[in-house]
This record gives sequence, C-alpha cells and structure tokens, in this order.
Amino acid sequence: MDATCGNGHDTLLLAGLVGPQGHVWGFDVQQPAIVETGRKLAGAGLAERVTLLHSGHEQLARYLAVPLQAVMFNLGYLPGGDRAVVTRPETTLNALEQSLQLLAPTGVVLMTIYPGHSGGDEERQVIDGWAAALDPRNYHSWRMGQLNVACDAPYCIIIQKAC
Ligand SMILES: C[S@@+](CC[C@H](N)C(=O)[O-])C[C@H]1O[C@@H](n2cnc3c(N)ncnc32)[C@H](O)[C@@H]1O
Repeated sequence: MDATCGNGHDTLLLAGLVGPQGHVWGFDVQQPAIVETGRKLAGAGLAERVTLLHSGHEQLARYLAVPLQAVMFNLGYLPGGDRAVVTRPETTLNALEQSLQLLAPTGVVLMTIYPGHSGGDEERQVIDGWAAALDPRNYHSWRMGQLNVACDAPYCIIIQKAC
C-alpha cells in the first residue's frame, strides 16, 4: 500500500515489486496526485495492479481488509503542488495504527519524514515517540538518517512486524 501517492513514483515502484500476482492500493487526498499516479502507471502498463483511492489514508480500514506486506508513507507535501495540503500528525498516527493491524507477519511499514517544513517537526516528534513505544516483542522499529546534513533533513523509519 502506498499511503501517499503524490506524483506516483513510489506507487510505480511498488506496482513493479508486487509482480503480476500482486496488488497495490494507493491513497491521496489530492485529485491531481491521483491523476498523475494513474498516468504514470498507465504509461508503464501497470495500472491493473493498482487500486487508486482519492481518500485520506486514515480511512484505509474502510477500503482494505487484506494482509499487507508493505505500507509506505512518504510524508509532507506534494512536490510542485499545494504546500498547504500536508500530512498531519493525528491522521498519520491514525493511519499508522490501522496499518499495523493489517500488516502481515514480517511485513514492513516504511516512512520518510520531513521535519523541515511547517508542522514537520511536530509530526517527527509524534511519529518518533509512537515508533519508539511499540512493544519490541511484536515490532522491530528502526530509524535511519544521514548524519552529515542539517538536523531537520529527511530521515526514514522502518517498522517490521514480528513473525
Ligand atoms: C511527499 S508527497 C508523496 C510523494 C509520493 N510518494 C511520490 O512518490 O511522489 C505527500 C503526499 O501526501 C498527500 N497527503 C496529505 N495528507 C494525506 C492523507 N491524510 N492521506 C493521504 N494522502 C495525504 C499529499 O497530498 C501529497 O501528495
């Protein structure tokens, strides 16, 4: 599942990775993001592997009830789009909780977090706190970031569900 389709790069990557038998669900609150993602998928001949949902990822349990192998959150705003439409801590956290419920054993949640934009530092704090508090018997939680850059540079969190 791609929780934030944006310009469709990640959805396209996932559509290739799942192979002909797999399926991807992609969410975005912005219609232009859904349109652009659909355009990229069609161009690659992969549109049939993907269900695009013009909806907030916090609604995901309304649409999905299958075990997920991977859930990707590329947070922040749409590059080249409306910077006022940005992921927010409360809806991100809600979607993360729902993702863990649907995650298959050994499945992963991948997040890229951008603390540098307005509201991004609050989102960083909420997500870091949430990921650090997960029970290590059930989830393995990692953070990966580049050290020789500004402290508000983007970084990644990966959560793997235990077997
Ligand atoms: C950094 S962009 C994603 C980039 C994208 N993954 C790519 O490959 O181009 C973040 C996206 O999150 C979307 N977004 C913001 N709030 C959302 C929400 N509650 N549910 C789903 N998408 C949301 C924005 O519209 C924006 O397109």
